[in-house]
Order: sequence, then C-alpha cells, then structure tokens
Amino acid sequence: MPASLNRAVQYAHQNQNHFLNDLKKLVMIPSVSTDPEHKSDMLQAAEYLANELRSLGVSQVQLFPTQGHPIVFGNLSSARDNVPTVLIYGHYDVQPPDPLDLWQSLPFTPEQRGDHLYARGASDMKGQIIASLKAIESIVKTGEMPVNVKFLFEGEEEIGSPNLDSFIEDHKALLACQVVLNPDSGMIAPDVPTIIYALRGLAYFELRVYGPAHDLHSGVFGGVVYNPAQALSLLVAGMHDHQGRVTLPGFYDRVRPLAPEERDEFARLPLDEDYFLKQTGATELWGEAGFTPAERVGARPTLDVNGLYSGFTGKGSKTVIPAWAMGKISMRLVPDQDPQEVQQQLLRYLEEHPLPGIRWELTAMAGGPACITDRTSGYTQALARALETVWGKPPLFKREGGSIPVVASMQQLLGVDSVLTGFGLPDDNIHAPNERLHLPTWFMGIDSLVHFFFNLQENKDE
Ligand code: BES
Ligand code: MN
Repeated sequence: MPASLNRAVQYAHQNQNHFLNDLKKLVMIPSVSTDPEHKSDMLQAAEYLANELRSLGVSQVQLFPTQGHPIVFGNLSSARDNVPTVLIYGHYDVQPPDPLDLWQSLPFTPEQRGDHLYARGASDMKGQIIASLKAIESIVKTGEMPVNVKFLFEGEEEIGSPNLDSFIEDHKALLACQVVLNPDSGMIAPDVPTIIYALRGLAYFELRVYGPAHDLHSGVFGGVVYNPAQALSLLVAGMHDHQGRVTLPGFYDRVRPLAPEERDEFARLPLDEDYFLKQTGATELWGEAGFTPAERVGARPTLDVNGLYSGFTGKGSKTVIPAWAMGKISMRLVPDQDPQEVQQQLLRYLEEHPLPGIRWELTAMAGGPACITDRTSGYTQALARALETVWGKPPLFKREGGSIPVVASMQQLLGVDSVLTGFGLPDDNIHAPNERLHLPTWFMGIDSLVHFFFNLQENKDE
C-alpha cells in the first residue's frame, strides 16, 4: 500500500468518533423537502454541507438558489495534472418521518442502539454524503487528493428533483467531469459489497375522482348515484390482471426483454423468495407471473397505489357517500419506457373505463426515466477493486428497483455516467419509521471510498 494511502486509511480509523458526531449534526436538521414548513431547515442543511466543504479546503463553495431548495456546489482541484475529475452527488433532503408514533426514538434526535444509528436520513442518504466527505477528509488531512473532485448536493431528490435538470443545463461547464460517484444506493447485506448498475425510473400521479356535487346521506341517496370511493377502487383494481401484469394499454411495449445471461446473473444473487419474505414481513409474495422476485424488482416495470383517501376515516361510523376520492398512483419504469408515454397510457386507461356520473382529474408529479450504467468502465472497476480490498471479496453487480433521477439526467445532459454504490442495507427502514444506519458497514464504506479515490488516479483524464 502506498504510504499516502496508508496514512489516509489510518486517519479514517482514528477519527471514527468524530465522523459519527458530524453525521449526527447533519441528521439533527429536519430537512424534509416536501413540507414547506421546513424551508429554513433545508437552507440550514445546505449551509452545513457548504461549511463541511470549506473545512476540507474546497474552493468555490457556492449555494445556488432554485425555485425550490438550494443546490450546493464545490470544487476541489488536485495538485496533479492529467487526473480525472469525479463529481460526487448527494441529496441532503429526507422523506417525512410520519407516522411519528411508530418511532422508538425521535426521528431527528439521533440515537445509537447497538451497531446502529437511528434517525431519519441516517441511511438515505446523509450517512452516504458524510461517508464521502470523510473519505476525502482522510485524504486531504494526511496528504493531497489524487484526483479532482466536484460536489453537487441537491435538496429535492425525494420529491423527484424538479429543479435539477435546468440547473445542470445552465451549468454544464461548472459541472464538467469524467464520472459521477453516486452513493445513494446500498448493499445487499453487510458481507456482500454491491455495485448497482441500473435503476428503475418513476412516473407518479395523483388521481382525483369526483361524483355528486357534495357528500350525501347514504340512506337517502345510496343506490341512485355512483360512489366515487367505489369508482376509484374499481379503477385501481383494474390496473392489474390475474397474472399480476399492469393493464395500461401499451405499458410493456417498450420494455427491454431480459437476456438469458442477465437472468442467469439474477438467479445467482442471494435474493431468493425467503429473502423477500423476511425483508417484507409478508406471508406470501405476489407479482408478475413468469419472473422471479429479484427480476420483478430489478428489471420489470410495476404499478403501485401509494395512498388512498375518501369519505369518512375517523373514529366511529358515519353513513355517507363521499363526493370525491383521491389516490396516489406510481409506476416504476425500466428501459426503454418513457414517463410521458406512460402518462398517456394511464389517461387512455381512464378514458376506456368510464363510470356513470364520475369524472376525474389526473396530475403528474415526480418522474424520470430508468437508466443502465456502464459496468465495464475503468471507474466502475476502480470501485470494484476498492470494495474488494476492504471486504476481501469482489462486489456483486445488481439492478436496483429504486429511482435516482439525477443518474439519467447526467447521462442525457452531460454525457457522463455514474458509479452507483452506498453503504445502506435493505433493513435500514428507509422512508419508514426507525430508519437506521449500520455503523460497522458504514465505517468499512468510508475506507473503501478512500481506496476508490486512490484507484481512480489510474484512469487518465479523457
Ligand atoms: N436512495 C433512494 C433510492 C434507492 C433506494 C436506491 C434503495 C437504492 C436502494 C432515493 O433517495 C429515493 O428514495 N428515491 C426516490 C425517488 C423518487 C422520489 C423520484 C424513490 O425511489 O422513491
Ligand atoms: Mn430516498
């Protein structure tokens, strides 16, 4: 091991407590992007990161206002010439902590229990941002950066990055780089280092269904008008057939079929039916016929109801026909589906299923296409070797079911590919109560990022 790399790894090991304290400070800021009440917390989280960058000696630290939450940018040039520039992406926003009563400790008061740190954002993805920053701190405090690094931290990933594409388009020169390190995904298990090479896209909608002009007594009027709650239930129920396939017209037309080699690879991942039963706590699995659970999550498109609301949901009973019903419906997309086209398919489905006296309104919300990254590039290999050095075994390559809109944007707008990793685990409860981060894995992750930056210098600037 070169002396400089050795010094950086030593620093990382000696500073684990201080790294953890800095993570705690960040997760204490309730940066919930979807909630306007947290606007000032968003700014505070952005400023926290800007200050972290300044303390690393990053020049040009800038906060760019957007129509939503600010973007943090920084640039750390290596003293060396002819080395690649890696842009580190992160999102400092988190999902709402609700339902609060299911948390064992408060969501924005980090608590360490056993090997875990519990807090909203600990895993998704404040822990991953801090891991990247602390790997860099370990290098710059003991020597110099072997590659150029740029930083791009946004505050709107959890709401679909609505203002990021226009920022990227307007700042192409500022963001110019050879590769993006995106640590917003995770590992299969603590002893299974993982590189993600594909993500699903997303198309998210709110569907409002209207019937009578106002709520009605269900005795006086039950049996003479169609009930909007029933209409929404029927529409939603009809979105799958008995094979678990989505029934929107043309939904599968652009779906790239799985090659036999890819199916073999899926079959080798340690993600069998028992794994999904255990992770979900469900008593039986369900999904599209003809595909394994790992394939369904990684490489097949799906449709889910994320929320339903109608009528009386309070304590006790109330005999009422509600005037309206609302559903949040989203699709996870795979290459080469197009979110706009999927919206048209949903509209057609609704038009083809008219119900008496019922009208509806469809609003498109977060969205973005799926992506596949180049798993053979020197950058991916640099990460693979780094993970192998720390975990003692080569990483598995996996297609992830979640979505990170920036990855496709970087490909389309800058022509730059991302290397996707992260040190979260499937049982981290991301987006759920009791989100947590497995600290032993996190510390190994920091070590592996130190190795990654040193490995990268072998990739010349192109
Ligand atoms: N970090 C997640 C995506 C993810 C989850 C990657 C699990 C790998 C494993 C990201 O923050 C996220 O939740 N994205 C949203 C995007 C959406 C709101 C556009 C998602 O997938 O729901
Ligand atoms: Mn998330």
